[in-house]
Amino acid sequence: MEIRNATEEDLPSIIEIYNDSIPAGRSTADTQPITVTGRMEWFRQFDPKKRPIWVAVEDGRVVGCVYLSSFYAGRPAYDKTAEISTYIATSHQGKGLGTQLKQAMIEACPDLGVENLISMYFDHNDVTQRLNDKLGFEPAGHLSEIADVQGQKRGLMISILRIPKTK
Ligand SMILES: CC(C)(COP(=O)(O)OP(=O)(O)OC[C@H]1O[C@@H](n2cnc3c(N)ncnc32)[C@H](O)[C@@H]1OP(=O)(O)O)[C@@H](O)C(=O)NCCC(=O)NCCS
Repeated sequence: MEIRNATEEDLPSIIEIYNDSIPAGRSTADTQPITVTGRMEWFRQFDPKKRPIWVAVEDGRVVGCVYLSSFYAGRPAYDKTAEISTYIATSHQGKGLGTQLKQAMIEACPDLGVENLISMYFDHNDVTQRLNDKLGFEPAGHLSEIADVQGQKRGLMISILRIPKTK
């Protein structure tokens, strides 16, 4: 398994993995598939030195991705805070890859200038909850019933990991 910075050529695979997670209604607030064209601008704002997007590649196929997004529209006071997101191909879920990708990004945080890592996820996303607990994230908030997902009211969990300074 290779983990590397994503390129624009990886975007269709990233979008496919993301779209595959929509029907379960547990992972994203998007309710309709997104498109490669519609996400090109989003993809281009990633910066390998500060806000990277990485892919996991197995036998030449992208099977997962992890990325950091600027928190609160990137306002400067939040420069050291980033949101982490992880998406694994359905065929590769539950095999430790999410743990591996997220752990690798956590370890890179000091070099990326990130001191506070935020994870936001629906309150019925038990796998993300378990993964975050395992990696040391702490609960930071729960906004109950703020989303309508497939006709059900769902809440948003916010958890945080403080990254020890190594430099
Ligand atoms: C959430 C996600 C990133 C986790 O990655 P993963 O590779 O499937 O998870 P891992 O195999 O690393 O397992 C993480 C933990 O969750 C548990 N887990 C994994 N799949 C599970 C399942 N289907 N049911 C219950 N627990 C599960 C694992 O046992 C592990 O805990 P443990 O080490 O204490 O046993 C991945 O499942 C995914 O992409 N899901 C769809 C998209 C999504 O929800 N992304 C997060 C958006 S906020």
